[in-house]
Amino acid sequence: MSERPSLDTTAWTREHAHGIERTDDNTAPIIYPPAEKTDPDNHIWDTWLLRTPGGEIAEVNGYRVIVALSAPNDLLPGKRHDVATHRFYYSTDGRQWTPGGRVFGDTDPLGSRQWAGSAIYDPSTGAVSLYYTAAGSRGEDELSYTQRLAVAHGGSLVVDEDDGVSFEGPWTHDTLARPDGEWYEREEQSRGMIYTFRDPWYFEDPETGEAYVLFEGNTPVPEGSEACDGDPVQQEFNGSVGIARAAHDEPTACELLPPLIDGVCVNQELERPHVVYRDGTYYLFIASHKHTFAPGLDGYDALYGFAADALFGEYEPLNGSGLVLTNPANAPFQAYSWLAYGHRDEILVTSFFNYYDYDRPSLDDVGLFPEPEQFRRFGGTLAPTVRLGVDGHETWIRGTLDHGHLPTRDEELPETIDERIGRLRGGHDRDRGGYGH
Ligand code: FRU
Repeated sequence: MSERPSLDTTAWTREHAHGIERTDDNTAPIIYPPAEKTDPDNHIWDTWLLRTPGGEIAEVNGYRVIVALSAPNDLLPGKRHDVATHRFYYSTDGRQWTPGGRVFGDTDPLGSRQWAGSAIYDPSTGAVSLYYTAAGSRGEDELSYTQRLAVAHGGSLVVDEDDGVSFEGPWTHDTLARPDGEWYEREEQSRGMIYTFRDPWYFEDPETGEAYVLFEGNTPVPEGSEACDGDPVQQEFNGSVGIARAAHDEPTACELLPPLIDGVCVNQELERPHVVYRDGTYYLFIASHKHTFAPGLDGYDALYGFAADALFGEYEPLNGSGLVLTNPANAPFQAYSWLAYGHRDEILVTSFFNYYDYDRPSLDDVGLFPEPEQFRRFGGTLAPTVRLGVDGHETWIRGTLDHGHLPTRDEELPETIDERIGRLRGGHDRDRGGYGH
């Protein structure tokens, strides 16, 4: 019998968030457009790697696979969320990605469009489960913003020497969970500008073997509540990291549990939660935006993280405030939707190249540009991978790799500039201290 986990929700507090500040350890270098995009025909943004149930990056006959949200690249970038569909890309070297097409081929997944999720390949059976967000309802005339967690199962991954990699159905699409209204806000309860119930992330706890799905939600805060000292405006900022019990061999099993973390009075969107487990510590990461912080807090579009010695917490924000990795002040929206994963003794972080050559205070101003400028300034491709060092509850940037370079399992990464300087100086200076900008 596994021990019953503590189900207390950790609070990400305003006090923590007041400590958010750019430093060399958390600020990525400026990104320049790559010579080639990951997909020449489509914008791509939120991306995830095909993993095994135990959390390793899957390598199937030497191929690794990523799934990304996509939209045709002649669509105005700001409209892409309205038509998002999943495409996949495969690679033998983790650098060159071959477009594999739409994950579900010509068949229809749930929702009028599909948002972020996760993809699991079971090497013992070859079965694939694709967890995703079904946004809206298929066939709706007017786009709605209802969201539910969904899973496609029954399909598999096929590797053919001549034709490369493909996902093969038939798929069965099922709704995994809808918000319950008590732990997780329903759309009609939402008081804020954005409503979320999305981004299912399958995770097996390496210490107990139990399966879970993490997701992004909002904590209901009824009007008149005492939360945030009764401040009704702050109460609208109520993002959470949700969790549900799942099952290894039953892809549709899903029982909602109370959230792992919430940011009530702090932030409205704790996006794409995922966990990297290292040496007994659970590192829980989320992406969030500058504009979703509650009034009185100055955050950034950034990767934030928390650490605990058990999956159910209690979590502490990494580096005191939670801030792990952000964009430089002169390109504050150059990357978004970071995804961290373990690689040897470091953590690698991939993301997408968002708006560049753009330093206005808000992304809303993108819409003020003429359309050709909106296209020109949007990356829509994989960003350079960032290398993070980790020591307990502290992280720092060690350096970066190329756009879309997601090293294969055994790939040894080059010494960083700081490591080299430290070594030449006699080995005292460790690799801390940013990437030397
Ligand atoms: C983050 C995000 C996800 C969502 C997707 C929709 O980039 O907001 O939470 O699934 O974008 O495009």
